[in-house]
Amino acid sequence: MTEKLKELRERALAQIKEGVTPEKLEEARVAFLGKKGELTAMLKSMKELSAEERPKFGQAVNELRDELEHVIEEAQTRMKNAMREQQLSSEAIDVTLPAKRRAVGHRHPNALALEEVERIFIGMGYEVVSGPEVEKDYYNFEALNIPADHPAKDEQDTFYLGGDFLLRTQTSSAQVHEMEKGRIPIKMISPGRVFRSDEVDATHSPNFHQIEGLLIDKNITFADLKGTLAVFAQEFFGEETKVKFRPHHFPFTEPSAEMDVSCFKCGGKGCRFCKGSGWIEILGCGMVHPHVLEMSGIDPETYTGFAFGVGLERITLLKYEIEDMRLLYENDIRFLSQF
Ligand code: DAH
Repeated sequence: MTEKLKELRERALAQIKEGVTPEKLEEARVAFLGKKGELTAMLKSMKELSAEERPKFGQAVNELRDELEHVIEEAQTRMKNAMREQQLSSEAIDVTLPAKRRAVGHRHPNALALEEVERIFIGMGYEVVSGPEVEKDYYNFEALNIPADHPAKDEQDTFYLGGDFLLRTQTSSAQVHEMEKGRIPIKMISPGRVFRSDEVDATHSPNFHQIEGLLIDKNITFADLKGTLAVFAQEFFGEETKVKFRPHHFPFTEPSAEMDVSCFKCGGKGCRFCKGSGWIEILGCGMVHPHVLEMSGIDPETYTGFAFGVGLERITLLKYEIEDMRLLYENDIRFLSQF
């Protein structure tokens, strides 16, 4: 019997040694230690032994079972460690390798310029508000004192959407929404998209951006308008910038003006940039027309105000000395990353 046990031990140890995968090892465990395994069978065959042989044999079988269990466990641990080792080395990363360069986007010059404009006006206590791009005729024209037969309403300029609706042709419509809220004083700028049925060329696009400004309070004069816009021009284009106001006409302001800035390229001497004049026109402005105030429920006897409208692309092109507006719409990253 002990001979048989010895032989079984040799075989079991050999098979466990051969068990190089978790499955093989499990097979070996089942073959010897399982319910129907060889060692279990040995234990069952004990009844054939004599009473004095039995305890000794039983002890030997138990010892062998403990030994085999221990050896299998060790083999399992070894195998697990080896597998972990392998996984770690296959997943290892070389942190000294140079990183791949990722192409990141770049902020658009329009966005940079707008941020600057907002910073300047917020610094003077203005609020930034936005108005709808789809407007009723009333907000885009009528409430701004633009009568039904005004040439600006021509279908060649305005995208009509049917019914009473259109795509706003100017951010001035945002003025009306602010005035209707009935909260005075008003001190706001309103940047946004506007739409006009224009052909694309170096200075035109059917879709561009404006920044509207509106200030309404008691005792607001044209001097306030001039002072405010001069500060804006100097902060935006540089301290040495001079401003000049030329009389103009807009239906919603009276008096109206256009503001020129001294050419920041030649300082006013005249160059290609300012077409020899030394001045560059940048915005329209004026004192809000009493009729416009009245239509939005503001008493023109008590309150006065000024308004202005700036083309965002226009001042972006000037600030960054870009020659063709189309570059602003192509979004070529090689162009954008220059700013
Ligand atoms: N809305 C005008 C335009 O699109 C620009 C403008 C001029 C706005 C004078 C104003 C203003 O607020 O006072 O051409």
